[in-house]
Amino acid sequence: MIRLQNVNKDYVGRPALANINLQIGLGEFAFLVGPSGAGKSTLMRLLYREEVPTSGKVLIGGVDITRLEPRQIPLLRRRLGIVFQDYKLLPRQTVFENVSYILRALGVEGDQVIRRVTSALCVVNLEDKADAYPDELSGGEQQRVGIARAIVNGPPVLLADEPTGNLDPQTSLEIVQLLERISQRGTTVLISTHDQFIVNSLRRRVVSLKGGQLISDVDSGVYEMEARA
Ligand SMILES: Nc1ncnc2c1ncn2[C@@H]1O[C@H](COP(=O)(O)OP(=O)(O)OP(=O)(O)O)[C@@H](O)[C@H]1O
Ligand SMILES: [Mg+2]
Repeated sequence: MIRLQNVNKDYVGRPALANINLQIGLGEFAFLVGPSGAGKSTLMRLLYREEVPTSGKVLIGGVDITRLEPRQIPLLRRRLGIVFQDYKLLPRQTVFENVSYILRALGVEGDQVIRRVTSALCVVNLEDKADAYPDELSGGEQQRVGIARAIVNGPPVLLADEPTGNLDPQTSLEIVQLLERISQRGTTVLISTHDQFIVNSLRRRVVSLKGGQLISDVDSGVYEMEARA
């Protein structure tokens, strides 16, 4: 579902990613780990076409997204759910409005909107907060809204760059377990994190970057010593 082939990304002549080859299958769940500056966010930005590689291919569902025309990028983004460290919720909109925004932008109407938003809020266990505003919610609840918003359109791929960076350890674990449950429903999930406790608790696939290089890729992995800062 996700594939990088010989991907290099340079910023002003300095490599942020060097010769990355990576494949993540349909419904797979993987962590992307590595110290600050390793290239995790750069790799994520390549996957949602916020950036293009200096060379190499980035494929989502078999489509080389480096070749998309600007007008095709919204189509790609509809197939991706993106979860951010700082949630990026609209502060003056309710939880319901934040989650339904994308559906309304896509022209979904009436009962369909209500049904799909309610279903997404159920997945994250926030049905009772539909009318709340973001500043009335805890950080963990805000991130659950961010996840509901990311999955409301049923994307095949969910990308989360440091989704628990602003949360305490227990809440972080709950958020990642929620993302793991979402992957069990058939969504491909890639999570970048620094959090050794989470990675070591879940024992899932761990892809490690360091200095822009992919240094290890293990199933049922732990946070490797080498990948630490
Ligand atoms: N827009 C940019 N312009 C120039 N250099 C950049 C840019 N974005 C990232 N870099 C550089 O690319 C490298 C990788 O950065 P990246 O943000 O991908 O790391 P990261 O693994 O996400 O780190 P962190 O854990 O701190 O979020 C770093 O050396 C960074 O300084
Ligand atoms: Mg980052």
